[in-house]
Amino acid sequence: MATRKKIGLIGAGNIGGELARLVANQELGDVVLFDIPAKENFAKGKALDLEQNSSVLGYDSSITGSSNWADLAGADVLIITAGIPRKPGQSRDDLVAINMPIIRDVANNAKKHCPNAFVIVISNPLDAMVYEYMRVVGAPKAKVVGMAGVLDSARFQLFLAREAGVSIKDVRAMVLGGHGDDMVPVLSMCTINGVPVTNFISKEKINAIIERTRKGGGEIVNLMGTSAYYAPASSAVAMAAAYLLDQKRLLPCATYLDGEYGYKDLFMGVPVIIGGNGVEKIIEVPLTEEEKGMLKKSAASVQSVLDVVKKG
Ligand code: APR
Repeated sequence: MATRKKIGLIGAGNIGGELARLVANQELGDVVLFDIPAKENFAKGKALDLEQNSSVLGYDSSITGSSNWADLAGADVLIITAGIPRKPGQSRDDLVAINMPIIRDVANNAKKHCPNAFVIVISNPLDAMVYEYMRVVGAPKAKVVGMAGVLDSARFQLFLAREAGVSIKDVRAMVLGGHGDDMVPVLSMCTINGVPVTNFISKEKINAIIERTRKGGGEIVNLMGTSAYYAPASSAVAMAAAYLLDQKRLLPCATYLDGEYGYKDLFMGVPVIIGGNGVEKIIEVPLTEEEKGMLKKSAASVQSVLDVVKKG
């Protein structure tokens, strides 16, 4: 008999709550909203609020709060936001010392309780945290990804749509590389329903948009005092749905590279196909010399944080 999927959300904070709302509303499965023992009641309260919401909105997913890893046994998908978010003035890399032991704790428990889950890491600094997660769990590379490219591309698309004065629905853009200020918006893949974006927006304006995209997370941190959560949650849920519904979506995700694009033994954002087997394929697209140079710089930034993690 078919049973419902189980989705574990590790971290019941701002992103965790929005993830739970989206997953339940889309009826992707039942949700376990997990946090540390000191926040168990908070997680339970959020879960109860969201279950009561089901009675108004009409979805059948169950949502439970917990701080007991046994409740995550057999989870099909884990989305990890455990850790602390940025405060104004902090870079994502400033979080490494605090979030690294948290990711290790989560990975050790996940290995024991839900070793077969498809795992999406959101905790920052993203590319280093997802690397560390996979290293501790020893999971196959197809089953562990980091969420960054979908969000960075969404930010890029929004700014392009507003500047061009066209519907957001028609803008396609792709941001590759690490989830930091060196990320690589690939202009050759930027179109408005197939029409090159350069037909609509001057090079000068595009450059300003690229700059704003690179600092897109920081812009929100400065405004709110903490990091974004609506668009990050939607981005991760798009990735989870691609896996759970075997959609074969082509999405930019932080993926383990083993020679692709000329990089080895690191996670970085590249286009991948996500389907029922996880990361089913890494898509290698031709890049200009300038884009290759930017990717190299981005990879060097990712590597420098990774070196800190490897020493720690
Ligand atoms: N296990 C489970 N949850 C944990 C653990 C742990 N070991 N350690 C911390 N947490 C929980 C916190 O108790 C908190 O409820 O993670 C939650 C994080 O929630 P928020 O502080 O609201 O942060 P959020 O905005 O959701 O961002 C989380 O995602 O985008 C990244 O930079 C961001 O690293 C940050 C993460």
